[in-house]
Amino acid sequence: MVKIGNISLGEFPLLLAPMEDVSDPPFRAVCKENGADLMYTEFISSEGLIRDAIKSRQKLDIFDYEKPIGIQIFGGDEEAMAMATSIVNVTQPDLVDINFGCPVKKVVTKGAGAGVLKDIDLMVRLTESVVRSTDLPVTVKTRLGWDESSKNIEEVAERLQDVGIKALSIHGRTRQQMYKGEADWSLIAKVKNNPRINIPIFGNGDIDSPQKALEYKNRYGVDGLMIGRAAIGYPWIFNEIKHFFETGETLPPPNLDDRVETAKKHLKFSVEWKGEKLGIFEMRRHYTNYFRGIPHFKPYRTRLVEGENYQAVLDTLDEVNEVFSAQMFENI
Ligand SMILES: Cc1cc2nc3c(=O)[nH]c(=O)nc-3n(C[C@H](O)[C@H](O)[C@H](O)COP(=O)(O)O)c2cc1C
Repeated sequence: MVKIGNISLGEFPLLLAPMEDVSDPPFRAVCKENGADLMYTEFISSEGLIRDAIKSRQKLDIFDYEKPIGIQIFGGDEEAMAMATSIVNVTQPDLVDINFGCPVKKVVTKGAGAGVLKDIDLMVRLTESVVRSTDLPVTVKTRLGWDESSKNIEEVAERLQDVGIKALSIHGRTRQQMYKGEADWSLIAKVKNNPRINIPIFGNGDIDSPQKALEYKNRYGVDGLMIGRAAIGYPWIFNEIKHFFETGETLPPPNLDDRVETAKKHLKFSVEWKGEKLGIFEMRRHYTNYFRGIPHFKPYRTRLVEGENYQAVLDTLDEVNEVFSAQMFENI
């Protein structure tokens, strides 16, 4: 049984990766429904939270049915991280996660996200300040290191465990790699196999099928897998992986009806949570993924994206179902 603090996550949990502008409550709802065992909010700037930027506060929205859920924060200043943690405590998530992996320039140049990978002492101090500011379990998500010549994840894992983190998720790339190349899981396995390490180690990077999930589970021996991009527009991946682990068989892919129903549910939640205008707007980035692989879909995607109001988009989704279900079923 994998546990983070007192949170039991089953034998081999599948985690939904935190993703900026993607892993909001509507998206998390459909992932939860399809088997995600632990989810995180997108990263939230500690300084933004303190300044009370409305957008940052909205990112703290979590719901009971999502549990267990972690709120992810980032920042390069100890005091700001401690204050942000106190704010996070009020919303009562199951855990607080620290992002030390974000490669985006606006974050890195402030010494936060993956920027911290260059300064392990600072990383340790930032982590300590979060651990000291909460009774909740604290976890960390990070990368292998800053660049090819400074893959320091083995030292990082030991030192962060020593200051009290309860789990570590490792994306098998360096900051310099951004998202290029293939994730290298061999160092993740080394961290996992270090006899000094006793916290759960979750592997992350490029898991996009049940077959790959099983291969990586067996080859690298991690305690669970974190999945990001493959879940966008395809939340079914979690249950597909679980089914494959249990039976060795591949579930049939969702048919068009499933896709339309899930997109509708996602849209409905989006509108309820953000209001009609913003809800429709923010849902736009998901249609390509929900309907990937359907030939000649473009005009419908355009209509979905240009839909003026909730009802118009719902009508288009119904039409998609009618038009494509007969002819496209096998092609998806
Ligand atoms: C659109 C997008 C947004 C992301 N935002 C975050 C974030 O807020 N916090 C974080 O720790 N990682 C973030 N990541 C990184 C993912 O959590 C994950 O580590 C990465 O995508 C590799 O996993 P994958 O190959 O399964 O996608 C983001 C990735 C993407 C594609």
